[in-house]
Amino acid sequence: MASQASNVVRPSDAELLQAQADLWWVSLSYLTPMSLRCAVELGIPTAIHRHGRAASPTDLIPALSLPSAKLPFLRRLLRLLPVRACSPSTRPRRRRGAHQPHLSGARLYLDALPRSGDGVGRVVQEGRGDAAIRGAGELHGATLFQESLESLDADFHNMANEDMDAHDNFGIEIALREFRDLFEGIQSMTYFCGTSGDDKFARAIVKAFPHIKCTVLAPPKMIGATKPDDGAMINYVEGDMFNFIPPAQTVALKLVLHHWTDEDCVKILAQCRKVIPSREDGGKVIIGDILIDHSGPMLETHLLMDIGMMTMTKGRQRDENEWRDIFMKAGFSD
Ligand SMILES: C[S@@+](CC[C@H](N)C(=O)[O-])C[C@H]1O[C@@H](n2cnc3c(N)ncnc32)[C@H](O)[C@@H]1O
Repeated sequence: MASQASNVVRPSDAELLQAQADLWWVSLSYLTPMSLRCAVELGIPTAIHRHGRAASPTDLIPALSLPSAKLPFLRRLLRLLPVRACSPSTRPRRRRGAHQPHLSGARLYLDALPRSGDGVGRVVQEGRGDAAIRGAGELHGATLFQESLESLDADFHNMANEDMDAHDNFGIEIALREFRDLFEGIQSMTYFCGTSGDDKFARAIVKAFPHIKCTVLAPPKMIGATKPDDGAMINYVEGDMFNFIPPAQTVALKLVLHHWTDEDCVKILAQCRKVIPSREDGGKVIIGDILIDHSGPMLETHLLMDIGMMTMTKGRQRDENEWRDIFMKAGFSD
């Protein structure tokens, strides 16, 4: 056994990250047929055909009888589909002499697609032709990690928390190696987390840089929970980041902002800006989050993650321009 183990070649950081990316793609790809079904049920192919030329999401809103508040969700649906599901060869074609697009096979394809009613369809379609619109991420009565989710949908709440606990081990080491410069020189840091295991990144930072005075902003349950005996010195403080962020030289937010709307992100970042010193005095905000790369190999996975966020949270995944926009609105200069 020992000699077998020593023959195993340890994957490189790049291979591990690629494997993680591949797993994300596999586990989220169920959202592609759901999104396609939602597009077909809404009548998007026919609406584009009737439009007679390239149609923007704004053009499609009245044609699909969707309230204008659904425009941001429609945009997100439409940016996923061309990446895989709706290549030019699946565009509707006109039958000779017919006025309707040729969709005779559509019924068959539609029946083969998983029902979108539980997720994508409900977010994009609900409220069609109607003034009452349920917000995104409220399919379970509350958004992911919102305190009230526990009483509204305990199974979903527990599953999300167990997933957070199980998530992200090797990525932390790689991030600390790749971005070492970012952490050099930091004296104090505030970090955000909520479930029993999702302070792993804060613990790893403090173990790698023991001089950093680290405060974790967490809910009361997390503060009372037993912590691993790994020597990491962390001060746990209870609070709501919209009202109070413990002052520090650095505030680090990992996978927090993608849960929130642009307006909420601006509020959170403006709060962060207030509690750090000036750039000259080493003040900084470190954000670890998804960056949609329109020309990168992970584009489809990023867009699937965005559809996932659309169904479970108020948030979204953002590209560089969308991130820049919220940084600037929060008062940062770059
Ligand atoms: C996806 S988790 C990320 C946790 C951790 N940073 C990580 O990457 O493992 C988002 C976290 O934001 C926390 N959170 C949500 N609303 C908050 C609020 N109003 N104030 C402080 N933290 C909050 C939740 O408790 C949750 O743990």
